[in-house]
Amino acid sequence: MRHGTSSAPFYSLGEGPFATTHEAFVGIDEIDWSRPLADGDETAREDGRRTFVHRAVDEQRSLIAFSELLTALCQSGAPIDVIGSLTRVVRDEALHVDLCDRMVRRLGGWPEAAPTPRIVSLPAKWSLEQRVLATILGSLCVGETISVALLARARGNATDPVAHEVLTRMLADESFHSRFGFWWLDAFPRSDGAQAFAERFVARILRSVVVDFLPTQTGAEHRDTRYGGVAAEARREAVVEAIEKTVVPSFERAGISAQKSWALAQAEETDAS
Ligand SMILES: [Fe+2]
Ligand SMILES: [Fe+2]
Repeated sequence: MRHGTSSAPFYSLGEGPFATTHEAFVGIDEIDWSRPLADGDETAREDGRRTFVHRAVDEQRSLIAFSELLTALCQSGAPIDVIGSLTRVVRDEALHVDLCDRMVRRLGGWPEAAPTPRIVSLPAKWSLEQRVLATILGSLCVGETISVALLARARGNATDPVAHEVLTRMLADESFHSRFGFWWLDAFPRSDGAQAFAERFVARILRSVVVDFLPTQTGAEHRDTRYGGVAAEARREAVVEAIEKTVVPSFERAGISAQKSWALAQAEETDAS
């Protein structure tokens, strides 16, 4: 049985040996999906559906990015316990795609025109080492730490018990993904070239955080909702707090200059506005 519409960026078989294996592996049925929605408020349900559509697409993007990282680490001869730990990250993202897909279907199904994941390709001329480092710094250290902050706010808003449980599971997993990134920085010394690359890349990522996350966004998916939406101003606060309390100090502890880059990125935003 094909779940979702052709506009969804993925689908599940929903039955048979692949479904059974996947469900047991990710533990998706630990959540009781049979519980009814809290009430019949159409606006809240529609807001919730849009929130989980966007979340599902983001999770699909993470699944692709970390699958590519897993391949890159295997090719570069990374230690097997690091590779084993990363397979957990990939498994978690497959679970998150499924969790968000089930929430979308629970809240009314996929819209005809669903967004597609925005895949950011790293420059082909970069070495394998540079591509690995860029994904660790950008997607794990920065991206997953921002996810933790946003999911914590989302869970705080979620009074629907199924949404709350889904967000609790995602929050726990994303927290591990963020730590994986910083563990990597501690575990592997960098050459002078890699160090210079890391500092340039961190500056670039922090500028993109300012551009992508800090402008106050409007729209139904950014309102507080019982299904775990987060209002625009709260999103901005959560992102700034995550960068200033976790990301920047953790990079500085790992020997990567980030404080000055963050100050510069914010100053550029102020100049532009
Ligand atoms: Fe995820
Ligand atoms: Fe993640």
